[in-house]
Amino acid sequence: MDTRAKESRPCFAGLDGLSPRQLFEKLPTPCYILDEAMLHRNGEILAGVSSRTGCRILLAQKAFSNYDLYPALSPYLDGTEASGLYEARLGAEQMPGKEVHVFCAAYRESEFDELLRYAGHIVFNSPRQLERFGPLAKKAGKSIGLRINPECSTQEDHAIYDPCAPGSRLGATRAQWNAGMSPELMELLDGLHFHTLCEQDADALEHTLNAVEERFGDVLPRMKWLNFGGGHHITRPGYDIPRLERCIRSAQEKWDLQVYLEPGEACALNAGYLAARVLDIVQNGGITTAVLDTSAACHMPDVLEMPYRPPLYGAGEPGELPCTVRLGGPTCLAGDVIGDYSFAAPLQEQDLLLFGDMAIYTMCKNNTFNGMPLPDITILCKDRELQRLRTFAYADFKQRLGT
Ligand SMILES: Cc1ncc(COP(=O)(O)O)c(C=O)c1O
Repeated sequence: MDTRAKESRPCFAGLDGLSPRQLFEKLPTPCYILDEAMLHRNGEILAGVSSRTGCRILLAQKAFSNYDLYPALSPYLDGTEASGLYEARLGAEQMPGKEVHVFCAAYRESEFDELLRYAGHIVFNSPRQLERFGPLAKKAGKSIGLRINPECSTQEDHAIYDPCAPGSRLGATRAQWNAGMSPELMELLDGLHFHTLCEQDADALEHTLNAVEERFGDVLPRMKWLNFGGGHHITRPGYDIPRLERCIRSAQEKWDLQVYLEPGEACALNAGYLAARVLDIVQNGGITTAVLDTSAACHMPDVLEMPYRPPLYGAGEPGELPCTVRLGGPTCLAGDVIGDYSFAAPLQEQDLLLFGDMAIYTMCKNNTFNGMPLPDITILCKDRELQRLRTFAYADFKQRLGT
């Protein structure tokens, strides 16, 4: 869809005014496109924060783990954050020489020795896990942390992304700390970690830090580091970077410790696209649906999980432009709907569509439900050349399911 006036939304800024048709017409679809220049741009913003404040910034690989592009981010970052053994290994292998931090809600005995090979910082979720694995990690020379829950919810809509929701399993509340911590366990601790935000600005961080201080202010001066987790939308235009930097400086000065941030989204925000084509158009009563060769359920699962309506190049809100169309996937799931959009002209079979902000929480979460093919992965290089990174085939669907 090239018909709408030039796209100026940040999620399409990387196209530099060129249309999807000019850039991607030749690509087989569906296809994720990773924008190398935008990764550098995000990296520069993040490196600015760390150089001005002295904080250290890690890539949360759960959001973005396309390791071929780690060289685009690594000059700006201090390392990677992992959710378990495999991401820790990936970070150690693909950002060599940089820090590897890991947080997992519960570690398994069978993987812990191997984890010690990759991770330099290990964060436990409960005093019990700290008791169970902390001495081993300490003996191996690791820096040890405990995730705390400051019981400070700052988001209204997304309970699924709120680790401070009542009854949360994530992080030790002060009551859990008081019940489970002993002087021996305190001795093991080098740092504390909290992660409570999701796509938020620095005002929510400031509010959270007050809660952290209120509940854990007595133990913080004994720590070497404090990890502010992820959810900081630092690279979004308009994000309040000076306020973030005040928060970092204030924590570092007050408690004399090293601050870490581990953003996922902010590292690869607006640095990817998903190209798709229209396969069919069906009309049912007043609803026109274009069935695409990409699926919300398989290729952009957060659209259904979060839920949200992804940005689409050249399209408006329903009713904004003359032709309103629902976009759906080819799977059997009735709810495999990407969203309702409007267009300047009716969609046609084979039209190329481009979804924005598709580098994060997509490739690392996609699946082959219904035997859906996985989208190819292509790099839009800094010089605007396209480089095919990966294609997938039947074997990729089959090999996870049996012999
Ligand atoms: C512990 C932890 N750190 C970092 C992140 C990254 O968050 P985001 O991608 O929102 O920055 C998450 C996301 O769930 C997380 O759970």
